[in-house]
Amino acid sequence: MVNSKPKITLSAAITLDGKIGQKNKHIVLSSKSDKIRVHKLRAKSDAILVGKNTVQQDDPLLTVRYAKGNNPIRIILDSHATIRNDSRIIKTCKRVPTIIVVSELASKSNLNRLQKSPLDVIVCGKNQVNLTKLLSILSKRKIKTILLEGGGTLNRSFLKQNLIDEMIIALTPYVLGSKNTIDKIILMHLQMLLLNNLHFHNDRNLKNFHSLVFFVVCQEFSFFGFQ
Ligand SMILES: NC(=O)c1ccc[n+]([C@@H]2O[C@H](COP(=O)([O-])OP(=O)(O)OC[C@H]3O[C@@H](n4cnc5c(N)ncnc54)[C@H](OP(=O)(O)O)[C@@H]3O)[C@@H](O)[C@H]2O)c1
Repeated sequence: MVNSKPKITLSAAITLDGKIGQKNKHIVLSSKSDKIRVHKLRAKSDAILVGKNTVQQDDPLLTVRYAKGNNPIRIILDSHATIRNDSRIIKTCKRVPTIIVVSELASKSNLNRLQKSPLDVIVCGKNQVNLTKLLSILSKRKIKTILLEGGGTLNRSFLKQNLIDEMIIALTPYVLGSKNTIDKIILMHLQMLLLNNLHFHNDRNLKNFHSLVFFVVCQEFSFFGFQ
């Protein structure tokens, strides 16, 4: 792992069958209490990073609202610069520092459109955003800690390139899949049993919502399979 890169913490809420969401559907997995935990994490991070589809599908604000603290810089990876003007990210970029990272594939007209808003645009990578190059650019901008909040495609890219330093996974009491779901649940629990270096934090404030939060050191992590 390169020392000059920011520390990356992957944060995700997963269902019992290892999913983080459903295609073209905005679903809420986190409880209020879990949101507070995530917002505290956001407040401690220099930046928060998500993929284009998460913005398209969930239209998140990515700000600190359920905890005290400053908003981290929001970083959106969007190779073609297609983020919509009516997304909450673009609508709030005057008051929350925002970086849109695009690739060389982004058209001039899309770039011109983005540059009319008070945000930073970084061009980095040929067809997709080049993650190692981006992290080195962010490091030079004094960004030391990044909270990676997905979605699955982006998480996978970071994992494949061994760029994650820490994972914080909230296990929620939902099952999203239908086929072979029980097999997957059993498999996942076996994987969990085999994990070393796993710390459980039981959120006692949750009443009907039992959520476990795992603090996992990446190298010890046996991949659950985000979908
Ligand atoms: N449960 C949770 O904790 C949680 C958290 C966040 C999101 N979600 C869910 O995740 C789902 C969205 O995830 P997703 O997998 O569809 O998309 P995503 O990871 O949000 O975004 C992926 C997109 O980012 C862009 N990108 C640019 N550079 C990239 C790179 N180097 N590597 C990977 N992607 C890059 C690509 O689009 P371009 O090529 O067009 O740039 C890619 O298709 C939603 O359902 C959302 O609700 C869940």
